[in-house]
Amino acid sequence: MKARGERVAALTAYDYPMTRLLDETGIPLILVGDSLGMVMLGYPDTTCVTMAEMEHHIRAAARAKPRALLAADMPYRSYDTPAAALENARRLVAAGAEAVKAEGGCAIRDQVRAIVAAGIPYLGHLGMLPQSVREEGGYHIKGRKEAEHEALLADARALVEAGAFGIVLELVTPAVAREITQNVPIPTLGIGSGADCDGQILVINDLVGTFPWFTPRFVKPKLQAAEQMRAAIRQWRLEVEKPPVM
Ligand code: KIV
Repeated sequence: MKARGERVAALTAYDYPMTRLLDETGIPLILVGDSLGMVMLGYPDTTCVTMAEMEHHIRAAARAKPRALLAADMPYRSYDTPAAALENARRLVAAGAEAVKAEGGCAIRDQVRAIVAAGIPYLGHLGMLPQSVREEGGYHIKGRKEAEHEALLADARALVEAGAFGIVLELVTPAVAREITQNVPIPTLGIGSGADCDGQILVINDLVGTFPWFTPRFVKPKLQAAEQMRAAIRQWRLEVEKPPVM
């Protein structure tokens, strides 16, 4: 798609109906993201998500048999070493993932190489790394400082050399995201990183408003589904509770 100049519109899904819906709309890449920790399981961040939880949701999504590429996140601490990364990537593939994603660049180069050498397609993730939110004390934009800019470029090059097929750029300054995009042969998928990536990826709940208690600043929801659901539920409740006419 990058070679053809086509933009990639990717979304997350965590279960059978949403995966099926997204696939029916022609979304080419569906990610079972570890964001499910917050938007499905009520955890404070993604560091609480386990392998077993990822496998459970991947199985549900995979039952939709999407035509889209079904990628899945490797959870926190599941890829500390190349051997662990490979073993856990294989588990996610056994659950139904067709590609895996983890967070980091140069620091996990050997893990990425091990996964790719085993024939498992690998999607990188650079910029703000949600699995590091506790160490970083929040979700901060990356690329403003020269050292961050240089590190991001080096990380992107490391992922290309290790065999990644694409890179998610999360909360990277638009200028740095554009520079990375122009300097790598593989597609970049931006999330809060400006318009000049090769594509965009969003958490589906943010796009359609099914997690109304928090929406990232960079998302403009296309639907307020939670509002419509509340209204429908209230209306049905009133109908049920209305005293019967004698
Ligand atoms: O976990 C996730 O949903 C993600 C996307 C936001 C890129 O990593």
